[in-house]
Amino acid sequence: MLNTLRLQLRFLVPLAIALLVAAALAVPLMDQLTLRWFSRDLNLRGAALSSALSDSIERALDDPAHQTSALQSVFDRTARDERLVAIALCGTDGLVLLASAAFPPDLTCSRAKELAGAGHPTLLLASGGVHVAWHEVITERGRLGATVLLHDLRFIELRSRDTQFYLIALIAGLGFVIALITVVVAQISWRGWVQGARAVMRGEGLVRPWSIPTPEVVPVATELRSRLRDLEDDYRRAIRADLDWTPDRLRALLRSQLHGDDVIVVSNREPYLHEREAGGVVVRQPASGLVTALEPVMRACSGTWIAHGSGSADRDTVDERDGVAVPPGDPRYRLRRVWLTEAEERGYYYGFANEGMWPLCHVAHVRPVFRESDWEAYRLVNERFADAVASEARTEDPVVLIQDYHFALLPAMVRKRLPKATILTFWHIPWPNPESFGICPWRREILQGLLGSSILGFHTRYHCKNFIETVDRYLEARIEHEHSTISVGGLETLVESYPISIAWPSEAESRAWAPVDVCRAKVFERLGLAPGQRIAVGVDRFDYTKGIVERLNAVERLLEKYPEWVGVFSLAQIAAPTRSSLEEYRSFQARIMALAEHINQRFGRPGYRPIHLLAEHHDHAAVNEFYRAADVCLVTSLHDGMNLVSKEFVAARDDEQGVLVLSRFAGAARELREALIVNPYHVEETADALHRALKMPAAEQRERMASLRAVVSEFNVYRWAGQMLGDAARWRLRERIESRVERFRIDER
Ligand code: G6P
Repeated sequence: MLNTLRLQLRFLVPLAIALLVAAALAVPLMDQLTLRWFSRDLNLRGAALSSALSDSIERALDDPAHQTSALQSVFDRTARDERLVAIALCGTDGLVLLASAAFPPDLTCSRAKELAGAGHPTLLLASGGVHVAWHEVITERGRLGATVLLHDLRFIELRSRDTQFYLIALIAGLGFVIALITVVVAQISWRGWVQGARAVMRGEGLVRPWSIPTPEVVPVATELRSRLRDLEDDYRRAIRADLDWTPDRLRALLRSQLHGDDVIVVSNREPYLHEREAGGVVVRQPASGLVTALEPVMRACSGTWIAHGSGSADRDTVDERDGVAVPPGDPRYRLRRVWLTEAEERGYYYGFANEGMWPLCHVAHVRPVFRESDWEAYRLVNERFADAVASEARTEDPVVLIQDYHFALLPAMVRKRLPKATILTFWHIPWPNPESFGICPWRREILQGLLGSSILGFHTRYHCKNFIETVDRYLEARIEHEHSTISVGGLETLVESYPISIAWPSEAESRAWAPVDVCRAKVFERLGLAPGQRIAVGVDRFDYTKGIVERLNAVERLLEKYPEWVGVFSLAQIAAPTRSSLEEYRSFQARIMALAEHINQRFGRPGYRPIHLLAEHHDHAAVNEFYRAADVCLVTSLHDGMNLVSKEFVAARDDEQGVLVLSRFAGAARELREALIVNPYHVEETADALHRALKMPAAEQRERMASLRAVVSEFNVYRWAGQMLGDAARWRLRERIESRVERFRIDER
């Protein structure tokens, strides 16, 4: 209501001013006009009177002795007229011959004639102003003299005042009617517009006030909404097409579009762990694609990263609010640690996240296990993180970046605590089809939790499509396929693909690497390989989704089918132990070891082992050395959200040599088209691809690698973060517009 009033006042005040000005200008103008009209009227009356008196005057002049008294009485009678003050007769000699009683004795004929000829023929007497008129008396005998008529001006003033009153009343009445019409029309239009605009902003279509259509809102709102969407879509397409995403550009985006906004990241794995070792406390960074991807964002925006404090010395290094400034030695942001009991970690992380969600989302033919107690722990821990987000938020509308399948319930929980937050959730693993997802007993809760997000990101369009179809299957939701949005209970979520990547190495970084032949020599020495041998590398966590069994089978088949490689080809498989407290992982690790042993026994000989299984964590520098030393990199995931190993291998090969053999079930296969794409379940096909890779001429390797490098350097991690944060910034802008409209609507009530 206030806003409508404010808006209406914006119109009414100028209207009132305009009317006042009009009245101020019109009144004197009207005065002048009335004076002129009355003057003309009096002159006409005077002329008629003079003409009527001309006979009596002629007689009086002819016979002054008898007729003067008669003319005097005519004059006196005439002067009784309420408007006429006095009348006089001036002779041809310019003297007053006869005058009615009230004629001023000092008014001479020449003065009267002079006054009557002036623009304002008025004379001020003691009784007030009079109008002076001079009328020649002309008969057939010629000019006999002139009559002087003095009319009361107060009469004119009275009439003028009456006119002023009616004029002002008319202007005021008109103003009132205009204002009334304005207020009524504004009220009606404003309500309609507000509701229409609100509906547009919410993407609900058009709401008609009081169920009465407001036709004026319909085309404008539809146009407005579709233009907004088109602009957003254009912008997204444009931003995808342009080159050169660097840390500086990401920083610039944060500065320009999310300036001063509070940014909070939530992930299970923390970016820095403090570990107690024999020599004291050491700081470690986990080998995690997620950490690699988000570190630059956090460094650029100095926000807060909330994660499970899992390092053995983590508790000893935090402040009283469980936080620590990182990176150590060059603090740029705050790491807030959340503590979990062993039971909580077992239920939430090992149980629900890694025995339930992980196999559920990866089609790797390992059955998900769903336990009620794990679900309870998962819910509880998600609540705990939601509390941490609420307590770390410096504003009511922070940008919250939630990571991965450990926090499917967190978006809705944060939304409950901070309704105005912009929540971006990124699902780093695949999303299965609706049938596969349907086996989860808490499928509806998980979908509802995720739909608390403003933006939900997956690596590929395919995963987005699976998610949208899953929602369509299990929830009542409004899905707009054209814009890839889902609305549930008035909340809208944009489901978009953001292919994750790596930070493309800077020139300084790659200059610091040892040359390829040096790396090769070091790796050969470490593995005891003979000069001239060929080597493929595999780098994975010991996880059943990575297709390590299938990879080893392919190597065995290669040696079987192409015996020329026996004694010449070896696979160096780096496999970092992971989630080892789970039986599935322990038995998987044992199975791989047995299989490697079997192949080595079958094809090995003194001084030659086809499989080198390096079952321990390798830091990035060590892994990079392997990438640079290898002829082939084997990525055979059975299902993978993206797979950053494939991209790291490409980034490491500044010599433009080496062949990437890549599973078609990794998200990366959609971008890295120049790799040799394989179906890892098809052992024969993978063995053939390996054979082809080993025989590939250097020129073809260069051509393929150059093209792969162009793709990865362009579609780097800064683009991934930049696109998501850019979409978040636009989302926030829309939310702000919507909340303004909402405010108007509330005021208007
Ligand atoms: C892989 C997945 C990530 C996930 C991570 C968890 O890297 O791609 O999405 O967050 O595993 O690993 P962790 O060792 O923390 O269980």
